[in-house]
Amino acid sequence: MSEPAPGPILIPATAVRRRTALLARKISALYQNRDLTLLGILNGSIFFLADLARQLTIPFRVECWRLRSYVGKTTRSAGTVHGITKTPGAFRGANVLIVDDILDTGLTLAATRARLVAMGSRSVRVCVLVRKHKRRPHRVRADWVGFDIPDEFVVGCGLDYDGMYRGLPDIRVLKAPASPRE
Ligand code: IMP
Ligand code: MG
Repeated sequence: MSEPAPGPILIPATAVRRRTALLARKISALYQNRDLTLLGILNGSIFFLADLARQLTIPFRVECWRLRSYVGKTTRSAGTVHGITKTPGAFRGANVLIVDDILDTGLTLAATRARLVAMGSRSVRVCVLVRKHKRRPHRVRADWVGFDIPDEFVVGCGLDYDGMYRGLPDIRVLKAPASPRE
């Protein structure tokens, strides 16, 4: 049976690079003279987190949580956040910047933010590479956004379909398989 595959480029790699550099400058300015802990949400944030972090001009710590709201061959959120009970790191009194690949329904980021507040973080902000244009059941504000995109399933730059395509340099729309000939 054929599978969905990466389709047309939505955001080219050059634009991702330029925008990441700009976000790094803005974030560095805001956290000047404050402690900063970057919290990467795995697996989707790995490339964006690494690219962004290396361009910050201020000192910071990095922690990562492995959370999942999509499981298997699907382009729909499962509605629960797996892994939110295993959240290592010392966050009491910390200024935390959550870094994730995408703001979709907001479920993952709402749960992450609530957990950080419960763990005693002093401030919690959010930076995502892409934000989907849609009505969100979970109200989450992103403080820094790379790109606003239409409500389509995308892959590349850390974004996956069933674990695949994270390493694509451009962000692409996932194309449904051609339907079989009648
Ligand atoms: P949310 O909890 O619904 O906001 O979804 C967040 C997570 O869902 C992201 O960290 C991604 O792992 C995944 N996700 C949501 N939309 C997409 C997409 O278009 N492509 C790939 N992964 C997605
Ligand atoms: Mg993901």
